[in-house]
Parts: sequence; C-alpha cells; structure tokens
Amino acid sequence: MCGIVGGIAERNISEILIEGLKRLEYRGYDSAGLALIDHHHVVRERQVGKVANLVEAVTSRHLHGNLGIAHTRWATHGKPTQNNAHPHASGEVAVVHNGIIENYQELKQELQQLGYVFSSETDTEVVAHLVNHALKSTPDLLTAVQTIVPRLKGAYALGIIWAQQPDELIAVREGSPLVVGVGIGEHFISSDQLALLPVTNRFIYLEEGDIVRLKRNSIEIFVNTVLTHRPVKELDATVMSSSKGEYKHFMLKEIFEQPEAVQQTIAQALDAEHLKAGFLEKADGAFDTIQQIQIIACGTSYHAGMVAKYWFEQIIGLPCQVEIASEYRYRHPVIVANTLYLCISQSGETADSLAALRDVQRHAKQQHKTIFTMAICNVATSSMVRETDFHLLTLAGPEIGVASTKAFTTQLAALMLLVLKVGEIKNSIAADLKQSVIQALWHTPKVLNETLKNDAEILRLSELFVEKQHCLFLGRGTHFPIALEGALKLKEISYIHAEGYAAGELKHGPLALVDNDMPVVILAPKDEMLDKLKSNMEEVQARGGELFVFADEHSDIHAKDRQHVVHIPAVSEWLAPIIYSIPVQLLSYHVAVLRGTDVDQPRNLAKSVTVE
Ligand code: G6P
Repeated sequence: MCGIVGGIAERNISEILIEGLKRLEYRGYDSAGLALIDHHHVVRERQVGKVANLVEAVTSRHLHGNLGIAHTRWATHGKPTQNNAHPHASGEVAVVHNGIIENYQELKQELQQLGYVFSSETDTEVVAHLVNHALKSTPDLLTAVQTIVPRLKGAYALGIIWAQQPDELIAVREGSPLVVGVGIGEHFISSDQLALLPVTNRFIYLEEGDIVRLKRNSIEIFVNTVLTHRPVKELDATVMSSSKGEYKHFMLKEIFEQPEAVQQTIAQALDAEHLKAGFLEKADGAFDTIQQIQIIACGTSYHAGMVAKYWFEQIIGLPCQVEIASEYRYRHPVIVANTLYLCISQSGETADSLAALRDVQRHAKQQHKTIFTMAICNVATSSMVRETDFHLLTLAGPEIGVASTKAFTTQLAALMLLVLKVGEIKNSIAADLKQSVIQALWHTPKVLNETLKNDAEILRLSELFVEKQHCLFLGRGTHFPIALEGALKLKEISYIHAEGYAAGELKHGPLALVDNDMPVVILAPKDEMLDKLKSNMEEVQARGGELFVFADEHSDIHAKDRQHVVHIPAVSEWLAPIIYSIPVQLLSYHVAVLRGTDVDQPRNLAKSVTVE
C-alpha cells in the first residue's frame, strides 16, 4: 500500500527519505518518488518499479536538500506510470498522499476551469493544484492547507512542501495513518513508524483531523486551526528490530519466530495455572453483561475470527458471529445491545475494519444501545487500539512479510485467552476444562518448535506442487478456517489458484474438480471429526486425487500410493489450529520460493490495506 516519508533537517534529507522508502517496501508498491526543496525550487524524481530505480536516478542527479517528501505508490487511480507516481506538483508546491480523495473529479473540473493543467490520472494531483491556488490568497502554506482540507472528501494522509517556505513541512491526517518522528533539531513524518526507526524512536501518533507544521526546531499540531498537544511516545527495542537475520526471507523468519511470539502473547495473561489477576481487568464489567460476540476482520485476521467462533460457542456457550469487514460495513447490520464487537487486525489500520468499527460505534450511539468494542491487534499505537474500549495485544513483534504468519497464530492464542477470560467472568467454563486449556496453551510453544522440525520434509513435498495450477485444502471444525488460511497463503505468495473447503462440503461441488492433477491438502488433527475426515479422504482418492496429509502422529494415517503424510506432534484439540497453521505456512513458503516469486512482497498485494 502507499507509503509516505518526509522530513526537515540540517543534514541532507534525501538519504533518510530513501532509507525510509526501503523500509516501506514490504508494504507493496509499484512506483516511488521524492521531492526536495533545493535553492528555493522543488526538485522531483519519480520512477516506476522498485525503490532501487529511484535511488539510481537520485544518485545520478546528485539531488539533495534539507526539506523533502517521498512516497511509494500502490496504484488506485491510474496505472503505475512515472506521471502517476508521487510527489505531485503544482507550481512550487509538492504533495504526497495516501488514501483516496473521493470527490476529486468534481474538484478537478473546477481546477481545470481555473486553468490548471493535469499531468496525471491520480486523485492526488487535485491537492497540489488546490494548495497552489490557495497560496494566491495567502502567503502562508499552513493557512493554505487549512483552507483546502475541508474541501477534501475521503480518507487521506498528506505531506506538503512549498519552495517559498523552505523551512517547513505541512502534514495532514484524515482517515489514513500518519506519525511524526521526533528528532533533535530535525523532525519527520511517515505513514509507518518502521520507516523512521533509523532516525528516531520517539513518535507522536496523530489523530484524525490533525494538521501539523514541522520546522527543524518545532512541531505544532492544529485541530480546526486551534493549537493542540499530543504526547510523544518512545518505542522499545523489540518493536525496533526488523532485520532478516540469517533467514532468506522475512516470511521464513516470522514462521520460525512463532514459538517465541506465542509464548510472549500468552505470558502477558497467564501465570502457571491461572489467568493473571490484572488481565483485561478493565473489561470485567463489560464481559459480565455481554450476550454475544460479533467479530469483524479482513484477510488472515478474519480466519482467526472464524476459529474463535467455534471456541466461544463450544467452550463457553457464548454466541459468536464473524464477518468480513468490507461486507459488514455496507449491509446495514442490526446493532444488538450487550454485544462485544471484536475487531481483529495485525496492523490496526485496515481501512475496512476501522470503518466497520466506527459505523458500529456511531449507530450504537444514535440508537442508545449499550455495546462494547475491543481490538485484538499487533500494533499498540494503532488507530484500532486507540479507538476501542478494550484491547488485547498480540506480542508478535513487527511482521514484515505481506503474507501473515506469526500475527495469525498469536491472534489465535490471544483469542483463546479471551475465551478463558470471558468464561471466567461469566462462570461459564468448567474448572477442569479451563485448567487443561491453560496447560495446553503453555505447552503450545514447545509443540510449535517440534512441528517446525518438519520443515525439510515439507520442502520435499513442495517440489510436487511447483508445476500445479490448482490446489484444494480441506479441514473440518476449527480446521476449516485453517484450510481457508492455507489456501490464502498459497494464492498470495505462489500465485497458484487454491480453494479452502470444509471437507464435509466436498461432495457438494469441489469433488468435481478432483483429478490426477489436483493436489488435495488435508488437515487431520486427532479430534472427534477424524473418522469423518478419513471418509472424505477416501472420496478424493477414489477419484484419482493426490493427497498431502498433515496428520496427528496418533491418527493412524500413513503414507501410501498417492498419499503423502507428514506427522504432526500430538496436541490438545483446542490448540491444534495454532499448530496446523505451521505446515500450511511452510508448504506455501517453499512452493513460492521454488516458483521464484517475490515471497515477502507478492505482486499486487499490500501489507496494510489503508484504502477501501
Ligand atoms: C492485507 C494483508 C493480509 C492481512 C489483511 C488484514 O490483505 O496482506 O495479510 O490479513 O490485510 O490486515 P490486518 O492488518 O487488519 O490484519
């Protein structure tokens, strides 16, 4: 997704901007650019493709300056071309923009009538012309920006510079993430704090509607032209570590970090045999009153929610619905009082999930209904965490690979902690079941480590997928969502068409797809559905399908002709979805590497989808 970096300093800013853009590469993009103020003029360079192309051009032109803005673009309006790449300019104004200006057509017509000529197909260019136009009535960039912002409809973050005021950078946050990086005698902006970690670990998290004026020695934040104060927060070291280390890809590193990430996530909530006294204490009253849970999420986080639905209903008898945020927000859902609206998100900035959350809050207020909102999220400083009543953090550390891995398994661990907590408050969980789930949670990191030892065997199997066009993933119960997640992983990074199905649904359609050339991946933990699943496997084999089975070591499933089996260590059925995520992640990873795709930054995808 698009990324913004900007800054003002005494030193040359172009290297800082470029390092920042490199750190945003993981988010996915198709072109990059920067603009600097040099000797009272805007100098601009934009290139299609990787940041490396931009670096080459900037180096050969010896561009430098003390004030600048830079951008990685993920095309929404107009193809990935040089003209459509940011920054966009009008006169001596340059602008970078994340998000979407919804009324840009109307503004464009108005500006064209005033004589402004557009050189791109983007919605962003209207902002550059609007600011330039406003500067005809005021000599001050901040005032010009404050005048035009109310005219922009949509969700956006902006960074704006003007050659006539070479000592200030103006930034706007309205519905799209933006942070200020606080330095000493230099200050920065970015859509993602990771971009600024080489220069600072002190950040101001802007709020919706904030307009900022950065100078070398000052940071002023305005809400409706009134100066306001926002606290500076310091990041700790774990958030700051984001290198690949010995691993070939971030995704592989993150897969192998899962035992530690899950351990961290559960350790915040559990002591040896109990939930810690202070764990989610603030929510005790709310959990006591809730009658149901509505989970809202996108992508992999949605799959975590699907697993949790089984857990909430089976373990503590609490009704739970799960829905994709992009559907939920537009179908005018009925708001039910005493519901816990639970958003799950790695980033906490996903546009659809945030919009759904805000709609729920607005409608509940209008209808005078008491509801509670909660986030399960990996980013403590995210919009979602700030805007919900309660939150539970997944302590996975930064996840860089676009395909989510450790964020998913830590979400599952966090969700199980929440099930235990709500069950405890409502007195709806049997003591022995609670004990056995807590024990199983503590045991999970060890089983994850053992499961990761199957890596070499899974690599061998992955060689059989390299030439395939299609693949089916099957599971039952809590492993139906894991089948969906396995199919999503394979699609995302290897570009092989994959479907996840509930194995019991096989004969209602997908069985027609099964032939000699269709690999079928089966998730076979030892649970009450195992015998039913074995029958589904027979159905596939009878039609010539080739099975790749991840099976419990005591499942009595063994390799035979056209049936490959990887044995997974025995694990409590409640925590099995966490464990069975590992083999599907490793399989997708190895297939993608063998097919030579860009594993960490797959084509057309973005890590954090901050536009609709
Ligand atoms: C993008 C990412 C996925 C992620 C989804 C939801 O599509 O590529 O990996 O699952 O967004 O993101 P969130 O940050 O809300 O979990």
